[in-house]
Amino acid sequence: MPAITEIIKKRLSCRTYSEKPIEDKVLREFSYSINAVHTGPFGNQPKFKLIKLTSLTPQAWKQLGTYGVIKNAQFFLVGSVKKGNLAMEDYGYCKEKLILQATDLGLGTCWLGGTFQISRFAQAIGLQEGELLPTISPVGYPARQKSFTERMMRWNAGSDNRKPWSDIFFAGNFSQSLTQSQAGKYAEALENLRLAPSASNKQPWRILRDVKQNTFHFYLSRAFGYNLLRNVSLQDIDLGIAMCHFALTAQETGLKGRWQIDAAAPANKSLDYTATWQDNN
Ligand SMILES: Cc1cc2nc3c(=O)[nH]c(=O)nc-3n(C[C@H](O)[C@H](O)[C@H](O)COP(=O)(O)O)c2cc1C
Repeated sequence: MPAITEIIKKRLSCRTYSEKPIEDKVLREFSYSINAVHTGPFGNQPKFKLIKLTSLTPQAWKQLGTYGVIKNAQFFLVGSVKKGNLAMEDYGYCKEKLILQATDLGLGTCWLGGTFQISRFAQAIGLQEGELLPTISPVGYPARQKSFTERMMRWNAGSDNRKPWSDIFFAGNFSQSLTQSQAGKYAEALENLRLAPSASNKQPWRILRDVKQNTFHFYLSRAFGYNLLRNVSLQDIDLGIAMCHFALTAQETGLKGRWQIDAAAPANKSLDYTATWQDNN
């Protein structure tokens, strides 16, 4: 099994953290990646910062707005990006790379797009005019036992379930589903996409394969209410995360390709087209 598949299978949203401090070596390695320059497939450059929170009083904790949902996290990964075309997709793509690295380092994380107070984090990252702070993520070693709230949240979002292939992957047109055997050398990249985290586990991604052109078109099935928040569309972030899982797996399984906007991608009245993976093998 490629290493990326193991990491993707290991990643789970973690909302209850252990008191154990993050080891220095792990913190150094993760911080090195966080502080690097990040460029998404569409050229936007999100910035990330790891913020330590151990000195906060219980009162200050409550003001973060994560209280009740996230327990005992000592660090938060905060991200910002300049407003721009496909900025949310690039943000999702770049941040998920960091989330998967954290998973590989034995750390727990959780994407948070709804349950937090922006102001304290905006101050910490030095948010500028024209920039957005789409999400934050607690980072730390997972606790042995999940809190009651966490178990309820996982149950409510159906977090352990994913849609079957036939609901999200299509061949030629949207009435024909794509099977694992038809996906051939791309089966693993698509399976790893299917395991991606998404806001409320809505799994809004729909992928259409064009066999003749050797392309995969990426679409969003938008649900109401996920882009009203702070000018941030959580579902566009979801799509960036899915692209990240797909591209990292393709790369590791030796498949070459690139992202492009394809004017010939079929239009669909209930789906929003975003981008296309052009296979270059
Ligand atoms: C963009 C985004 C925003 C999210 N926002 C929240 C949130 O505000 N609160 C929360 O508890 N979980 C949040 N989640 C986590 C999802 O609920 C979780 O990824 C999904 O239920 C699947 O579970 P899993 O990550 O354990 O596989 C978010 C996930 C994503 C990708």
